[in-house]
Amino acid sequence: MIKANNKITKNIPAAIEFLNNGELVSFPTETVYGLGADARNPIAINKVFQAKGRPADHPLIVHIHDAEQLNFWAINIPPAAWTLAKYFWPGPLTLVLNKHPNVSELITGGQDTIALRVPNHPLALELLHRFGSGLVGPSANIYGHVSPTTAEHVAADLSNSVAAILDGGACDVGIESTIVCLTTTTPTIMRQGQISAEQISQVLGCDVIINIASNNIRVSGTHESHYAPSTPVNLIASNNLIIFLQKLNKPYSVISFQDKPIFVPDNIYWQKTSDNPQIYAHDLYANLRAHDQLNNDLIIIEQPPTNQAWAAINDRLTRASVKK
Ligand code: TXA
Ligand code: MG
Repeated sequence: MIKANNKITKNIPAAIEFLNNGELVSFPTETVYGLGADARNPIAINKVFQAKGRPADHPLIVHIHDAEQLNFWAINIPPAAWTLAKYFWPGPLTLVLNKHPNVSELITGGQDTIALRVPNHPLALELLHRFGSGLVGPSANIYGHVSPTTAEHVAADLSNSVAAILDGGACDVGIESTIVCLTTTTPTIMRQGQISAEQISQVLGCDVIINIASNNIRVSGTHESHYAPSTPVNLIASNNLIIFLQKLNKPYSVISFQDKPIFVPDNIYWQKTSDNPQIYAHDLYANLRAHDQLNNDLIIIEQPPTNQAWAAINDRLTRASVKK
C-alpha cells in the first residue's frame, strides 16, 4: 500500500515561508514538477544540486512570473525573446539569454547565459507571483532518473530533501519545456518539447537550428542516459516487435501501439498506448515509472513514428533506452 506523504500540500503561504528560509519546495508546472529554491539564495541553490545529485556544471532554469521580470535576470535581450515570450508564455518554452551580471554563476553552471521560463500552471504562477522573485526549478527527480509528473512521483524521489511538495495534480504536457537559445545569430533549439521548431520559426519569421548536441549530449553522436528507469529499456521498431518478443526469454513488460498478441503469456504486462503524441507525452513518465516498479528484466517500447509530432517523445525515449 502507498502511504500518503505528509509533505504533499496545497498551502502556498507555508511554501513561501520555506522558500524564504532557504528550503526546497517542489512545485507543479504544465510540463513536469520542478524542484524549487530561491534563485537569489546560494545556499538554497546548492541544496538543489545536492538533493538531485546533479553535477555543478549543469545549469538550472529560473522560473519567473511574467516576461517583465526578464530584465532582472538577463541583459542584451533581443526582440525575438519578447516576441516568443508574448506568444508562448506562460507556457512550455524556455529562453536562453545573456545573464545579468548580478545573477549567481551557481545557477548558470559558470556560463554567461541563463535559461528562463514562465510556467503555465495556476499554482506555479500564484507561488511565483506571491514569492515575488525567481525560483530555480530543475525537474524534481534524482539526476538522470525519470522526471516527475505527479506530487507522488516527487515524493518517491526527493521526499527527504524537500520541505514541501505543492500538489497541482498530473502535469498537462508531461515532458519538459522546449529550450531555445537566443544568444546565437540564428535561434537554436537545445531541447525539443511540445512547442516545435516549426512553431518557433513561424512566430519569429526566420529559420531556427536544432542543435541538441550543444545542450545535454557531451560526446558527439552519443546520447547521455537520462529520463531513465532503473529497468533497462529497449526501443524496438514496430515491424521487428513480434519477432523480437518471440525470441525473448526473460521477464519483460511492453508499451506498444498494438494489441497484445496471443502468443504473449497472460502474466506479461502489455500496455497499449495512445497514438496521439499529446496523450502519449502526458502519460509517458507515469508509464515508465509504473513499468519500472514491476522489477522485470526489460521494458520493451515500440518505437513511435519518426515525424516532427513525435520528435520530443523520441528524444526522451532514446535517452531512456541508453545503456547506463
Ligand atoms: O519543463 C521544464 O523545463 C522543467 C520544469 C520544471 O520547468 N524543468 C527542467 O529543468 O526540465 P532541468 O533542470 O531538468 O532541465 C534544464 C535543462 C538542462 O538540460 C540544462 O542543461 C539546460 O536546461 N539549461 C539550463 N540553463 C542553461 C543555459 N544557460 N544554457 C543552456 N542550457 C541550459
Ligand atoms: Mg531534468
